[in-house]
Amino acid sequence: MNESQLIELPKIIDPRGNLSFIEEANHIPFKIERAYWIYDVPGGESRGGHAFYEMREFIVALSGSFDVVLNDGHSIKTISLNRSYRGVYIPKMIWRSLENFSTNSLALVVSDKAYDIKDYIRDYDLFLKLKKNIQ
Ligand code: TYD
Repeated sequence: MNESQLIELPKIIDPRGNLSFIEEANHIPFKIERAYWIYDVPGGESRGGHAFYEMREFIVALSGSFDVVLNDGHSIKTISLNRSYRGVYIPKMIWRSLENFSTNSLALVVSDKAYDIKDYIRDYDLFLKLKKNIQ
């Protein structure tokens, strides 16, 4: 899948508390190699602001809300996440940032690869150049 996409996860509604889940290669189009989470973010703060050469991610706002800003080199779209049963799939080579965190928000990120500093593209001009060469 080359397009970023909002994905609705299963939601098991229960008076004892609702439950949602992610199965790799089922609800999301990759096998999960790593999970990390971002928490204790001051309200209004931003994170990210980079792309990956190869890594793909799926991001869920387990709690609170934030915006996922996605830039494919041509257009920019913003997806607001504020439900724990909905997430954004981000393919490789998308410039992405997480913005506008609400106080006490919790972002869960699952990735198809282990952390690898060499997979990061942090230079926006380089990102644009690489995108032009691909297309
Ligand atoms: P980073 O992905 O650079 O966050 P942001 O783009 O929001 O600034 O991660 C911040 C730091 O955390 C970075 O120095 C590396 C470390 N880190 C890991 O060691 N393992 C991981 O899986 C991640 C995501 C980050």
